[in-house]
Amino acid sequence: MVNTLEIAPSILGGDHSSLAESVEKIRAAGLRWVHVDVMDGHFVPNLSFGSGVVKALKRRFPEMFFDVHLMLDNPNLYVAQFAEAGSDLISIHVEPDYPVAETLDEIHLLGKKSGIVFNPDTPVGSVADFLPKVDLVLVMSVQPGFGGQPFRESALEKLSALERMRSEMGLSFRIEVDGGVDSSNIGAVIRAGADTIVAGTAFFKDGANLIKNAAIASM
Ligand code: DX5
Ligand code: ZN
Repeated sequence: MVNTLEIAPSILGGDHSSLAESVEKIRAAGLRWVHVDVMDGHFVPNLSFGSGVVKALKRRFPEMFFDVHLMLDNPNLYVAQFAEAGSDLISIHVEPDYPVAETLDEIHLLGKKSGIVFNPDTPVGSVADFLPKVDLVLVMSVQPGFGGQPFRESALEKLSALERMRSEMGLSFRIEVDGGVDSSNIGAVIRAGADTIVAGTAFFKDGANLIKNAAIASM
């Protein structure tokens, strides 16, 4: 495996009355990545967290790695705010109409890791041009906006295609999958090429089993 296997629990699936408690659960499980789903009610039909949540959680848990997924129509207007708040990685979608390449460059200029994200109905070719620029590619295995949706098998082929493209291009970006991942399919996503696994519902329901199945699959 090019990269270490990381499980990134999504606090969208956590306890919104105490997100610190949810991050503590992630830390206590021996994990380091915290996936933060930011939604604007435009690009996706839901609202979630602002940069203030990242700021507060990063201040409380400086050792955790905050993997911030911006589901926004204009992420270019917000990357500075989320970088300043303490995000460690900021991923932005390829679908909306804004200067994607320049925004990816800006994330690096702000000293953060960058990621490009694409939806289930978006072809993998749409992110090809950005691969040399990014630290991570995020494959959505659900239509973004809500946790708890069923995993879409079509993501598996995209994960494998990205693994092939990464090795052909001699790159080392992380391959992340997000949406509907649980103990029943985590083995399949790892074998398909994912090295970074988002899980919201499945982690907070039965994190230990999820981690066990991931460990078995990555052996
Ligand atoms: C959906 C988010 C996902 C979601 C994952 O828009 O991007 O990160 O929270 O949640 P589960 O694992 O419950 O599908
Ligand atoms: Zn996400």
